[in-house]
Amino acid sequence: MAEFWHGIKEIESINNRLFIGGFSPKDLTEKFGSPLYVYLENRIRFNAQKLSEAFNRYYGDYQLLYAVKANNNLHILKSLKAWGVGADASCVNEIKLAQMAGIDSKQIFFSSVFPSSKALDEARRLKAVLNLENLSDIELLKNNPPEQICFRINPDITACGAEGLKFAGPDAKFGISANQAMEAYAQAKSLGIKTFGAHIMTGSNILDEKYFAKTVTALFDIIGPVAKNLAVNFDFINLGGSLGIPYRLEDKPLDIEYLAKSVSDEIKKCAAIYGMKLPKLYQEPGRYIVGDAGILLSTVNSVKQTEKLWLGLDAGMNCLIRPAMYKSYHHLVSEKEVIPLRSQDYNVVGPICENTDIFAVDYKHLPPMHKNDLVAILAVGAYGYGMSSQYNTQCRPAEVMINSEGVRLIRKADKFEDIYSNCLL
Ligand code: LLP
Repeated sequence: MAEFWHGIKEIESINNRLFIGGFSPKDLTEKFGSPLYVYLENRIRFNAQKLSEAFNRYYGDYQLLYAVKANNNLHILKSLKAWGVGADASCVNEIKLAQMAGIDSKQIFFSSVFPSSKALDEARRLKAVLNLENLSDIELLKNNPPEQICFRINPDITACGAEGLKFAGPDAKFGISANQAMEAYAQAKSLGIKTFGAHIMTGSNILDEKYFAKTVTALFDIIGPVAKNLAVNFDFINLGGSLGIPYRLEDKPLDIEYLAKSVSDEIKKCAAIYGMKLPKLYQEPGRYIVGDAGILLSTVNSVKQTEKLWLGLDAGMNCLIRPAMYKSYHHLVSEKEVIPLRSQDYNVVGPICENTDIFAVDYKHLPPMHKNDLVAILAVGAYGYGMSSQYNTQCRPAEVMINSEGVRLIRKADKFEDIYSNCLL
């Protein structure tokens, strides 16, 4: 028995054949269909606990939230709730889902981008923590101010692990700018609001553990002067998500001990510099919690030789759009030969009528493949199913969860009727 994927013991190679949580991929697709999203509950729990434990050890007043957008399966939300994790909601529907999972409104942040007035009203009615990202939204609260307010601030620091994942800096649409912060908190204070928070989310899939303490410095450079000049007390800060995961065999996973300690030390240092009370600390990762716990199983529809050698799968960009959208790398393994004895260069593609429907170009980690062979696409738990679609009139795949009790269907695949059921004839 041997794990081969970044220490995840549930993804193993036994006699060079792939097993996921003790199941053979073929057994899973025979029972639940192909393509198929498979998740590992133990791994999700492990990831959440690893973060919480490290921050509780180094900081103390810490609450982990989960970015629902990464994967909104209700079963996953319920498990996370049972392990004490709250939620980051990007829209009202995500607040409602988090509440359906039993998460308390006090542990649901509403960080919506350019929300409508109706959405803000609804988020308030549902008692989520409002995280405003536009100065003009304060106006909407004037007649009936909430007890607490948080602002998403765009600091001048960003990084990312793939094209298009920078969320701060002058070209980012998110948040109020650093030089609007004083005005924002002054206006909120003048409404009689007493409890304040500050939020940042600067980029995604960042694998440099040293980066995170730098974001703390950048945040305090903005809120420190606000605390001093306006006598505003920051009850909490939210450092967003952004934690990266390995997508390639050679990627080095984040050193969470270092990250938690350096971030905690930096908060304590900055709070002391500005004479601030230590705020409660929130984080709201999505990818780090579920990303490496998800595998997409897909069947080879056919192999084609033209000027190139094409491996055509039954999963396409409708199931997993990350490679087409961000040119993201996902590691693919053959169920029959995890480490290829003889490898073959493939362009691995899906069945969608787009030439960007391609998972890998000149891919070198697969053995010679044949019709009906199975491929496992790794690290797809975050932004996989969540960004899937019915494009090309395709049905979205089913999702199953593996835990110590076995395997369980947690979302059915679309049926043909689901594709047209909203159409009016
Ligand atoms: N909080 C806020 C306000 C966010 O906008 C996001 C992600 C998160 C937390 C969670 O970020 P994470 O920990 O997962 O980096 N579709 C892209 C990722 C987009 C992330 C959008 N916002 C991908 O497939 O890589």
